[in-house]
Amino acid sequence: MRLVITRKGVGNWAAQYVKQQILHAAPTKARPFVLGLPTGGTPLEMYQHLVTMHTRGELSFAHVTTYNMDEYIGLPEGHKESYRTYMFENLFNHIDIDPAQVHIPNGNAPDLAKECEQYTTSIAANGGVDLFLGGVGENGHIAFNEPYSSPAASTRIVHLDMSTRIANSRFFNNDISQVPDKALTVGIQQLMDARQVLILVSGHKKALALRECVEGAISHAWPITALQMHPNVLVVADKDACSELRLKTYSYFKELQDQYSHIEALA
Ligand code: GLP
Repeated sequence: MRLVITRKGVGNWAAQYVKQQILHAAPTKARPFVLGLPTGGTPLEMYQHLVTMHTRGELSFAHVTTYNMDEYIGLPEGHKESYRTYMFENLFNHIDIDPAQVHIPNGNAPDLAKECEQYTTSIAANGGVDLFLGGVGENGHIAFNEPYSSPAASTRIVHLDMSTRIANSRFFNNDISQVPDKALTVGIQQLMDARQVLILVSGHKKALALRECVEGAISHAWPITALQMHPNVLVVADKDACSELRLKTYSYFKELQDQYSHIEALA
């Protein structure tokens, strides 16, 4: 695992990284770039930057296929807080992606178990994910894999932890009763299968989760720690998110950062 501590804003840095990866892959219709996508407050800035890059003609999504990590179960179609609405409003409506290449779990599917099975199969059929982007919950959840999720779990129906529903109630008029208690999520296994993972972490609220992610032991109590077993994980964090790290850890990763200075310079 590599930790990059950016001074530029996590979303800005991540957008530059994503752009670099897509341009480097030079995707074609026959060989698209497969991108895994998160929602939440943290990636919003990244999506704004990606839209700007597209508007300026610097980045095309014509040969990009996307898979979102998760979706609430039971929100009416078109609900303003569904992750489908979020993704179209913040990214897909503003870029040149082929809507047929957009994949978001359907939390209203008549057969949710079948929806999960098909989602997993579809990712594999598209050759797997090249770059899975993600955030982290204050309790260490990744996608909607809550504490005590199995690291071997696949796409499935999950029950949301109360702390997650409280954290997400800010999007639902601060009313927990409006936050769904179930969701569909890719499993930790789908993240482990991705060729590369980039996790975005910002703010003091995430400091404990980042500490566990980087310094903690692998534990299902902190699902994000499973990524320690992935050979190609990059975590980009701001200084506030690093406030619980040991000085030794912080200094070590700061020393390694030269190799990412070209991204920092662009951000
Ligand atoms: C949400 C999402 C996660 C996201 C996390 C953090 O519940 N399901 O995929 O990473 O919580 O969100 P935020 O960036 O708003 O803190």
